Amino acid sequence: MRINSPHCISTVLRIGGVLLFLFTCGTYFLPQNNEVPLALKTPSFQVANLTEASSTFNASVVDFWQDLASALLETQPQCKPLKVMDESVHYPEDHFDPLEPYRKHPHRLVGFTDDDETALLRAHFLMRKSAFHLAPKLSFAKGTTGIVTTADTHYMPMFLVSLRMLRRTGCNLPVEVFIDDWSKYDTTTCDIVLPSLNARCVVLSNIYNKNTKVKKPDHYQYKILSILFSTFQHVLFLDSDAFPSYDPSVLFTIPPYTTHGLVTWPDFFALTINEHFYHIAAIPEEPASARFSTESGQLLLNKDTHRESLLIMETFVQAAMAVGLPWYQVRTGPAALGRNWNGMFRGTAIAQADPGLDYEYGIPMRSHVHTGEWWTSGDSAHPDPKTEKSLNRTRTAPRRPRPVFIHQNMLNLNPEKVLADKGEITYEPDGTMHRMWGSKEDMEKLLGYDVERRLWDVVAEEGCRLDQGSETCAKIRAYVSEVFGWMGEY
Ligand SMILES: *[C@@H]1O[C@H](CO)[C@@H](O)[C@H](O)[C@H]1NC(C)=O
Ligand SMILES: *[C@@H]1O[C@H](CO)[C@@H](O)[C@H](O)[C@H]1NC(C)=O
Ligand SMILES: *[C@@H]1O[C@H](CO)[C@@H](O)[C@H](O)[C@H]1NC(C)=O
Repeated sequence: MRINSPHCISTVLRIGGVLLFLFTCGTYFLPQNNEVPLALKTPSFQVANLTEASSTFNASVVDFWQDLASALLETQPQCKPLKVMDESVHYPEDHFDPLEPYRKHPHRLVGFTDDDETALLRAHFLMRKSAFHLAPKLSFAKGTTGIVTTADTHYMPMFLVSLRMLRRTGCNLPVEVFIDDWSKYDTTTCDIVLPSLNARCVVLSNIYNKNTKVKKPDHYQYKILSILFSTFQHVLFLDSDAFPSYDPSVLFTIPPYTTHGLVTWPDFFALTINEHFYHIAAIPEEPASARFSTESGQLLLNKDTHRESLLIMETFVQAAMAVGLPWYQVRTGPAALGRNWNGMFRGTAIAQADPGLDYEYGIPMRSHVHTGEWWTSGDSAHPDPKTEKSLNRTRTAPRRPRPVFIHQNMLNLNPEKVLADKGEITYEPDGTMHRMWGSKEDMEKLLGYDVERRLWDVVAEEGCRLDQGSETCAKIRAYVSEVFGWMGEY
């Protein structure tokens, strides 16, 4: 977590106590279908300010945050800011290759000295101690399970598509949608549309600003903060552009979640962690290809068992490693969803495997005796071919884990924008409309149904919600009819 350097800390402490919000709760009519009744479109008088209620943090949460913020300030590293070579570049050595286990970790820090490293080691040590003491104060509603996401104005249209995809799987888990501050709050979205889908907005600045000394959070830190301040104990974090292909509720009830309490998913690359990270955290080094790096579009976390990890979290797995808590990263590699376009493969989404099936399958770590990525039918055969033949058994390879999450991270599914660019894979190079993710048959084989067909039905539902006569709505409907042949719920 990044913090103001001491000299720029404002010494003005905000004295204002927690405001008491009068919240008239109860039985407001909330639309069950997707139509927003006209009477509710001018919200200022009739709509309950649900967001205000869900963004009210009680004294114990505020108290906890003050302590955590103080700890972060006190343990801030006494060294100059780190300089890293361009992080957006992927180097050839980032390639995941388990058959080359001794490859060195990349070293991309610029002008990093032993003094810097010692300062970081001490800061990390102190923060781990603070996390240990603060952990019991972390509050959440015991036994609750829910989904957390972050979405500001820009991501909200896309998130509404993801949320409808989630609901189409039959999943009813409550959803908390963290928005930065009140400037990102839209009454219709937060207090009418989202509640009708069992989701609610939470304004992060309401709690974050209770401490005036910490710096405004950065892009990525919103994820951690929203998990930290969500009310759920068992959290599925989803990026606003990620959704499940079937009801993910069951994942909370089986290993590896029940055994590890922290489940992450892989990215396409090897670990790009600098070796000095391990020295700073004072833990053993992992080989660069020990596992894939982490793709943070989805995450499962039990806040009760992972209190300490959460309090020192910048990245998920490294935090758990540093405090010695168990974690499980799905070992089935990510799959790119896309198609050949103008002679090359273009991916728009990442498909991530079911962690339960992944755990059961136990992907082999590749080595000289098992160079393949998957188990084969031969792997259960008797090593002596003659004996194997006399046994006369039919060997079958175990079924590979199927995907459960789709992180649609390369194409913005905002209904207003999704069909605007004819250079996207929703079109052929000649401008005719086309499916994005390959054939219906392949999709059905992979997931059991045509998830792309459903996705477009949802994009149409969202794109036509406010005005059936809009150009956006017409455009999406034309696309669906042209590409899938018919309109209608799928
Ligand atoms: C809800 O409360 C917030 C904070 O008090 C306020 O900024 C917002 O305008 C309110 N919304 C409505 C619809 O009254
Ligand atoms: C404060 O809020 C947290 C999180 O919503 C809850 O778990 C806790 O029980 C509340 N504490 C009090 C004293 O009401
Ligand atoms: C091998 O097993 C199959 C099916 O179980 C059986 O039909 C066949 O006769 C067996 N062959 C030998 C050589 O035992």
